[in-house]
Amino acid sequence: MRIDVLTIFPEYLAPLDLSLVGKARSVGLLDVRVHDLRSWTTDRHRTVDDTPFGGGAGMVMRPDVWGSALDDVLGLGRAGDAEAAPDGVAPAHLLIPTPSGTPFDQRTAEALAGEGHLVIACGRYEGIDARVAEHYRQVGAEHGGVSVTEFSLGDYVLNGGEVAALVLIEAVARLLPGVVGNPDSLVEESHGSSGLLEYGVYTKPPTWRGREVPDVLLSGHHARIERWRRDESLRRTAERRPEILERADPAELDAADRDLLSSWGWDVGADGLRRPRVTEGDPSPR
Ligand code: ADE
Repeated sequence: MRIDVLTIFPEYLAPLDLSLVGKARSVGLLDVRVHDLRSWTTDRHRTVDDTPFGGGAGMVMRPDVWGSALDDVLGLGRAGDAEAAPDGVAPAHLLIPTPSGTPFDQRTAEALAGEGHLVIACGRYEGIDARVAEHYRQVGAEHGGVSVTEFSLGDYVLNGGEVAALVLIEAVARLLPGVVGNPDSLVEESHGSSGLLEYGVYTKPPTWRGREVPDVLLSGHHARIERWRRDESLRRTAERRPEILERADPAELDAADRDLLSSWGWDVGADGLRRPRVTEGDPSPR
């Protein structure tokens, strides 16, 4: 997989040399190239932003600079000219981090891990002129080869897209074949295929500051351990992220899951799950 990152702070992406992503790059599983957006400026001051039309606080990133940079990195020929987009260029996915994007989640990471070329455009200030995303969406629709996703990490505001680029790259890279040493560790983690949160994990020593590891985990009884872990996943998800269970497919639940959820006051119907209505004095699900 190839990933290009465009930013005015290339140094911000230095962590991509470390750990699993760094290793994946060094063995050639992942080709990450970080570009300084200012290389595409043409004025003495290397200007990338200007004041917003319509007024308001802050600065907006200029579409002409972004257009030149993205045409080059996407391999689209002449700057800003949709007609110059050659048919049949290598399919690239332009990703624009922004707090007004669609939520980035594990399913997004899985879909992106199946692609060949990602280009991440990191905005700063008040963001990138809205015509940039519009333009490349249209190029993609008319000529193919480019798709555009504006994505958000969550409902909070960062100073720019660099941290979001780091998050996306790490979440995607660890799904590429060969990047994570033991692929089994991808199977049961939070937001994995079951969609549930992961159960708590324990290691030695078996007693620490008076706290014991749950007996069942020391029992060697695989079926009971599996059941305990499933119960813990359900309990954590019900407590911490009930909306995940409400979106779940009831057909994915076994009889023990249903009994457990019902015992916590959940309504488990064929058409879906509904969390208990909280009335004052109700115990939390535990
Ligand atoms: N840029 C600024 N805030 C962001 C967020 N929440 N997600 C993605 N990119 C951002």
